[in-house]
Amino acid sequence: MLRTSLLYFSRQQRVFNLIKNVGFARKMASRFVAGETIHTAMDAVAELNAKGITASLDLLGESVTNEAEARETGRQYLELLDGINKRKLDANVSVKLTAMGQDISDELGIEVVREVIARAKSYDSFVRLDMESSAYTDRTLDAFERHLFPGHENNVGIVLQSALRRTLDDVDRANRLQCRVRICKGAYLEPPEVAFPDKADVDRNYVAAMHRLMEHGRYPGIATHDEAIIAEAKRFAKEKGIAPDRFEFQMLYGVRRDLQEQIVKEGYRIRVYVPFGSQWYPYLMRRLAERPANIAFMAGNIVKESFRR
Ligand code: FDA
Repeated sequence: MLRTSLLYFSRQQRVFNLIKNVGFARKMASRFVAGETIHTAMDAVAELNAKGITASLDLLGESVTNEAEARETGRQYLELLDGINKRKLDANVSVKLTAMGQDISDELGIEVVREVIARAKSYDSFVRLDMESSAYTDRTLDAFERHLFPGHENNVGIVLQSALRRTLDDVDRANRLQCRVRICKGAYLEPPEVAFPDKADVDRNYVAAMHRLMEHGRYPGIATHDEAIIAEAKRFAKEKGIAPDRFEFQMLYGVRRDLQEQIVKEGYRIRVYVPFGSQWYPYLMRRLAERPANIAFMAGNIVKESFRR
């Protein structure tokens, strides 16, 4: 119920307009978001790199409403890739096709993101296409397979969500293509016809997808903070003789930092997804929806810190 409400509010721009300058809300966001500028985000990546953690930078922003905004997002991603290269950071980028204009037209989204992929290729870097709600799954996978992957096989990859009933078929399609996949559970509110309503089914489907990707796919990103699933990935890798450099774990900035560091110590690869920018509200609401206890946890910490000052 609380998850549903938080996900509903994540889409209410008017609520964001009300709270964006409230100190408390901005402080809550700062736990999950690496500041509002390219420079604060790159500093956060440098800190992660120093701990042996790689990163994927995400410029926050969801669907844009006109072509100029889409092209501006594309331009900022080019600047970001230039900055990563200049500072020699171990990081790639994650993009949302709707932020590149997909809702205006598929052609515009593809054109803008292609330029970003071409720049990534020039630096031998990589662009991950984040997956949004199920309304975009087909369009995103089709754009990827027909227009973005050919010619850029090392420089672009997709995300699949175990919450969706269709996902094992998409995993098989991705394995046939030998493209890079990030597997996650899925952060969007979905109808029961397309997604499993029961979390146990989402988790079971995750493990099935992860096994297929680890065994037959190409360098999968195992994106989760679920300790049972992480343990299963390690067990499965040992059983099948899959070396630790054939996959990577992925986690979100500010979530389970203890686990992130432990994974490095154990000799596995881990990449942290580092979002930044002024449009942090929908992202923050999705993170709170995943773990409503975060609301109490963060509020408590903020109060404690205020008293210490
Ligand atoms: P689950 O929700 O079962 O949580 C397992 C445990 O992890 C919890 O018990 C808690 O301890 C901890 N945890 C999880 N979320 C937390 C939080 N917000 N704060 C504190 N603790 C938390 N989704 C999507 O739809 N499209 C996408 O492109 C992506 N991309 C993506 C990239 C990366 C690198 C990650 C890690 C995740 C995504 N996601 C995503 C989000 C994903 O779908 C999912 O919503 C979250 O990862 C939470 O699910 P878990 O797998 O962590 O499991």
